[in-house]
Amino acid sequence: MPEEALELLAVRADGVYIDATAGLGGHTGLIAQQLTTGVVIANDRDPKSLEMARRNTEQWSDRIRYCQGPFARLRESAAAAGIVKVDGLLADLGVSRYQLTAPERGFSFMADGPLDMRMDQTTGMTAADLVNHSDEKTIADLIYHLGEERRARNVARAIVRARPIRSTLHLADVVSRAVHRTGHLHPATKTFMALRMAVNEEPEELDHLLRIGPELLRSGGRMVVISFMSIDDRKVKERFRELGREGRATVLTKHPLQPAEAEVAGNPAARSAKLRGLEWK
Ligand SMILES: C[S@@+](CC[C@H](N)C(=O)[O-])C[C@H]1O[C@@H](n2cnc3c(N)ncnc32)[C@H](O)[C@@H]1O
Repeated sequence: MPEEALELLAVRADGVYIDATAGLGGHTGLIAQQLTTGVVIANDRDPKSLEMARRNTEQWSDRIRYCQGPFARLRESAAAAGIVKVDGLLADLGVSRYQLTAPERGFSFMADGPLDMRMDQTTGMTAADLVNHSDEKTIADLIYHLGEERRARNVARAIVRARPIRSTLHLADVVSRAVHRTGHLHPATKTFMALRMAVNEEPEELDHLLRIGPELLRSGGRMVVISFMSIDDRKVKERFRELGREGRATVLTKHPLQPAEAEVAGNPAARSAKLRGLEWK
């Protein structure tokens, strides 16, 4: 949904922008192309992705400041680039296709790799640390709440019995034996998603983004968020509505924008995308 996101952001050639989730630089590049005297901060917590974003956006690098850090430090990242208020902030939540498909990042059950799942591999606990050292109830609770997996207790029991879990495929195999396939989802989908969210503290990070992001906007500035998980979209919707009710912002999307059929046909992963925007008063 890059066109819809950019349209909602209403980029001005002399404006100041933050791409909070630069990934491989796709959106950053689209924003940078529209700037003349303006600037865009390309932020991502993943140093490897940011390096790729830097290479992919080299031709506009005079208008881009690259910052590595989580949403919790967005204000500091902007300040380090000499920026206090912005005309727009874009966030495209979740993980990128690169992160999901590179076996060495450990997000995927489609290929064997270390059970890592950290977006920033320089710091914090890996998914292996989590499954091998947490107690059974902690594992069950997070798979239930973050993954919305009804069989979370069975999965947690199977994980604890199979420890140490050595790799992504080892975990996928253990989970598949504990949960039977229903519908088209791989049995390990929800467990992998829950672990990824826990390892990267995604719910807490989204809370930071929804608190800090709007306050970085100058009057008339816009914040645009693309979510892929309903649990995220719900939070974005509620926070935007709250800011609207308080009279601090105008919600630009009464209903979320969703990708056109043609985009879904070319990129099935886009099917669940929801885009919301607000304008700061
Ligand atoms: C869906 S991808 C973005 C793709 C990007 N829009 C592009 O055009 O290439 C999401 C990116 O957000 C980053 N990310 C996710 N949560 C983050 C957080 N809490 N703080 C900073 N970056 C985050 C991930 O590392 C990933 O690179």
